[in-house]
Amino acid sequence: MEKPPRPTLFDFHGVYMTNYFTQNWDNIQNFKARPDDIVIATYPKAGTTWVSCILDLLYFGQTSPERQTSIPIHERVPFLEVYIPNGPSGHTGKDAVDRLTTTPRLIKTHLPVQFLPRSFWEQNCRIVYIARNAKDNVVSYFHFDRMNLIQPEPGDWDTFLHRFMMGKVTFGSWYDHVKGWWEKKQTYSNIHYVFYEDLIEDPGQELDRLCSFLGLSPSAHEKESVLTGAKFDNMKKNKMTNYSTVPIMDQGVSPFMRKGKVADWKNHFTEAQNKEFDQDYKQKMKNSTLRFRDEI
Ligand code: A3P
Repeated sequence: MEKPPRPTLFDFHGVYMTNYFTQNWDNIQNFKARPDDIVIATYPKAGTTWVSCILDLLYFGQTSPERQTSIPIHERVPFLEVYIPNGPSGHTGKDAVDRLTTTPRLIKTHLPVQFLPRSFWEQNCRIVYIARNAKDNVVSYFHFDRMNLIQPEPGDWDTFLHRFMMGKVTFGSWYDHVKGWWEKKQTYSNIHYVFYEDLIEDPGQELDRLCSFLGLSPSAHEKESVLTGAKFDNMKKNKMTNYSTVPIMDQGVSPFMRKGKVADWKNHFTEAQNKEFDQDYKQKMKNSTLRFRDEI
């Protein structure tokens, strides 16, 4: 298999990005949203695939249950800005969106709030944003960059941790990303802000909140089947959600469905790293009302 080369990071309008997410920029920025499009927005590794699977089950789980075992999640919920032009692993998120024939279209993005194509705002689209505490997020991102060939080489854990703190990772600063979307929510009411930790702690309650935001009222039986389909173990087993069909990921290095837990950071951070991280975190988040839990 022809593998795409590992990219380098560069400063793109103030955010570190790679060419796999910027090469199709004009097409992305001119994207024409429909009013019923639903955006799933996240910083990478915050639970995008989990919530994508939940939304797909909610909308199509009853009418087309075969989707779950026949169509990869990145075709059901395309990743808008991804652009790998050539070769057998070639994939363009925008084309995948254009191929969607179902309504609503569920569209994934990792773009920071200021880069979301304006049509989504103009059409008043609903947006589900998922945020995950910084420590688990950086651990998950480290393992992801080790196994994902379209991400820059992560280096060792300590190097990656410091790059994350500086925002020198793909899609830039976690701190700016979560704060940017949080602030937007204060003026744009169609954002539903979900915390990964809440979803782990009480998936049933979070599903109810999500349904009320989306204006859906599934039966108890439907809700149960959504929760079952989107359980970590089931998604890990399912080739259509575990990314095992995607050639750019080397799951021998680290599985995509890795642990799915809160507080795995405790197995990675040294005491010194934790102290330094906490101090820096306080500084970067000091003007925000956003509160995360890094254990439950
Ligand atoms: P870990 O690496 O900590 O295991 P994304 O989809 O945004 O790339 O996020 C991937 C992270 O979400 C991974 O975290 C993955 O295991 C976790 N995840 C995916 N599905 C999940 C589920 N059903 N329950 C809990 N965590 C899940």
